[in-house]
Amino acid sequence: MTQPRFLGRTAPGAPTLGAFTTGQLVRLCDVAGLDASDAELYARVLAEALGPVADRPLDLPPPSDSFLSDDHTPVEFSLAFQPDAPPTLRVLVEPGAGAGSLAESGRTGLRFLRAMARRWDFATDRLDELEDLFFPPSPQGAFALWCALELRPGGVPKVKVYLNPAASGQERSAETVREALRRLGHRQAFTALPQADRHLFFALDLGDWEEPRVKVYLAHQDLSAAEAGGLSRTGGGPGQAEIQAFFRAAAGYDADLGIGDGEADGHDVRLGRRPVQSCHAFTETASGLPSGFTLYVPVRDYVRHDGDALERAVAVLRRQGVDAAPLAAALAAVTSRRPQDGTGLIAYLALADQRGKPPRVTAYISSEAYRVRPPAVLLPAGAVSGSVHRERMESALTVD
Ligand code: TRP
Repeated sequence: MTQPRFLGRTAPGAPTLGAFTTGQLVRLCDVAGLDASDAELYARVLAEALGPVADRPLDLPPPSDSFLSDDHTPVEFSLAFQPDAPPTLRVLVEPGAGAGSLAESGRTGLRFLRAMARRWDFATDRLDELEDLFFPPSPQGAFALWCALELRPGGVPKVKVYLNPAASGQERSAETVREALRRLGHRQAFTALPQADRHLFFALDLGDWEEPRVKVYLAHQDLSAAEAGGLSRTGGGPGQAEIQAFFRAAAGYDADLGIGDGEADGHDVRLGRRPVQSCHAFTETASGLPSGFTLYVPVRDYVRHDGDALERAVAVLRRQGVDAAPLAAALAAVTSRRPQDGTGLIAYLALADQRGKPPRVTAYISSEAYRVRPPAVLLPAGAVSGSVHRERMESALTVD
């Protein structure tokens, strides 16, 4: 597929953030089987979401210290895999990156969303009802609003908005989530959620969804595989064993590394470096129960480099009976570096279960517009509890 010239990375002068990320997007569209006209349209939308910082040359520092990605690129891609179909490409973007303040960032994000709502003719009333909770006059926290677009064929994306439960104060985040759920009619939803360390995101599907979801993301520090298996409150889905197997495969604590099963001698993997996340999705208010559950493992903090991350992703995909070839192609679409030469290109691996659909694996792919994290010398010790395992893992994983 030929790339529109105005979007190319090879334009004269220092590439801009917009040129770099839209170039990645166009090449990823090809991997996901979208045609060139959809790709070009979605690239324009991404540039529009970035706003003025799209024109910022990449030799300047990131426009803000965005929490969206490790190197502060305000863009992240993901591929959601399903059996017997090409993966779905999504892009996550912080429309207010570089806006100067959280309050201004929030206003910029809302303006962008409302412009998209007019363009694609969808309602924002559910978001409007929550505005005072998530956009107070002096917002707090690590971000104000993120927007994700699911890039479907035909040029009309599905839209998701991510809000910050800590906007009205970290100490009020649980109450903010409870109140937001209540206003949307999910009166029992809050009590259905599992124990967690923090409320990270509150998300809404907007636009053309069969069953729009309200989603609550939770952080789980030092989570073990067994605990991960017990997090889902959907009352159905892949089951504990499947989730545990995913957790172990993504965390790299598996037979393929020759380091055995931790539980066999009384230890279990605990991911201490960066928390595992869960997401519960609510689509109806009658049962009070979530209809969807997703587990996110921040694989980048538990690998030597992206070669390991890619191997684990492939193992996880094969297990679900999915063709993993598009993932390697996607990595090549975002960077020319080899996976072994850095860490963090694959940020998260996720296993999602939505009622009525087959389980879905998602890989989150960093843009790395600003920085590549170098390979780790040792596997982070926080990945294991129990010194025996730590030593075995370190000797198994030490880079020669
Ligand atoms: N960068 C943040 C993190 O690593 C937020 C984030 C971006 C995230 N993409 C994500 C969290 C995908 C979970 C899944 O936590």
